[in-house]
Amino acid sequence: MAKIKRVYSCKDCGGQTPQWAGRCGECGAWNSLQEEVQSPASSTSLETIVRHTGYAGEQKNDVQSLSEITSEQAVRWTTGLAELDRVLGGGLVTGSVVLIGGDPGIGKSTLLLQAMAIMAKTSGISPLYISGEESLQQIRLRAERLNLEQTPLDLLAETHTEQIIAVAKERKPQVVVIDSIQTVFTELLQSAPGTVAQVRESAAQLVRFAKSSGTTLILVGHVTKQGALAGPRVLEHMVDTVLYFEGDNSTRFRILRAVKNRFGAINELGVFAMTELGLKEVSNPSAIFLSRSDAPLAGSLVTVIREGSRPMLVEVQALVDESPLGNPRRVCVGLDQNRLAMLLAVLHRHGGITCSDQDVFINVVGGVKLSETGADLAILAAVLSSLRDKAIASDWIIFGEVGLTGEIRPVQAGEERINDAAKHGFTHAIVPKANAPRKAIKGIKVIAVQHLSEAIDALK
Ligand code: TYD
Ligand code: MG
Repeated sequence: MAKIKRVYSCKDCGGQTPQWAGRCGECGAWNSLQEEVQSPASSTSLETIVRHTGYAGEQKNDVQSLSEITSEQAVRWTTGLAELDRVLGGGLVTGSVVLIGGDPGIGKSTLLLQAMAIMAKTSGISPLYISGEESLQQIRLRAERLNLEQTPLDLLAETHTEQIIAVAKERKPQVVVIDSIQTVFTELLQSAPGTVAQVRESAAQLVRFAKSSGTTLILVGHVTKQGALAGPRVLEHMVDTVLYFEGDNSTRFRILRAVKNRFGAINELGVFAMTELGLKEVSNPSAIFLSRSDAPLAGSLVTVIREGSRPMLVEVQALVDESPLGNPRRVCVGLDQNRLAMLLAVLHRHGGITCSDQDVFINVVGGVKLSETGADLAILAAVLSSLRDKAIASDWIIFGEVGLTGEIRPVQAGEERINDAAKHGFTHAIVPKANAPRKAIKGIKVIAVQHLSEAIDALK
């Protein structure tokens, strides 16, 4: 008999060492190593794979020329939730594998139950919702709360991977949801469910089954405290699409973000609100990130960012306060701290305004994270407004990238941003010169600036 080999695998990154250590040598996470028994891939276990998954490991070796391969247009199903469709790139692609990650309690199960129930009811697709976390009664209770208890949705409470595949083979559902991948286990391995090896192996079997049978597979994954998908990163490589469901537990709003998508653009955002009746789509997200008081306040202003394919208005706030410290603080929520340091340096060098004896705090309202540079000018304007204790009129909007020489650089889709601001009732816009529209836009006066000093003058 082969000797049993023990290894220690990191819960977070999947790195393996033969010896236990307090810290993972690969990703640096503390106390994340778990003991696992590594069973050699014996002939019996391969047989089991073949028996359960129908995957015989045979490969076609026919080389084909790219130009001769006939393309099939990806067929997409609408999930009934337009925001989810948008993030998926226009609907759920048949035969694709999607991973949805998020904190516990953020609403992953609710989102998928709603989407699957609507799909089952309206489009005649037969989804199978497999829960390893909740009993069928709990799901029924949830469905009653969502007014979806009358939908023909098939449910199964099961955590045994081989059993799941057997049921799926028999019933041939078009979509299978596994909630969650951390609860399922395969009999090929002896380690406990939720360990790296189990998650990786179970997911691999499920993905193999989905790809060989053309079933669409949706996996739910939990996220660690650090915000990475628990379990090995290989999970992200195995699937076609990775979505993150994020949000603050203190607010009702939830953001669905694509971080990998073989069938669509990433950076696409879907916005939902969690209500007593489940998740509601928010088709005009600007409205929620803009819960401002009418009276203009110093240090607060609105900018328009672009997330994915649509512009979104967000409020940025700055607080500039005399610092008692020799090394003043630069604190950012929703913005990269280094970016702020750079912007303050440009403000000093090219605007002649110093904050070197001031603490600077920046907050992007609503939990939005700025990932593009188009908000640079707005951040500087907010800093300036707080520093001078002079409010900027609440119907002004500002955007533009600030370069190291103090020039204001254009951003993508400038005209679209100005249009969106005008739609929301803004009357003045400070924008990069290259983004100024050729034709005047009704209802909004555009102030085009080329250099930081011009923007500072415009805000006087
Ligand atoms: P859930 O989908 O169970 O989260 P996850 O699967 O990501 O762990 O969401 C549970 C939370 O959502 C819970 O805190 C209650 C809340 N909720 C509502 O506010 N309204 C509802 O209609 C439902 C179904 C849940
Ligand atoms: Mg859940």
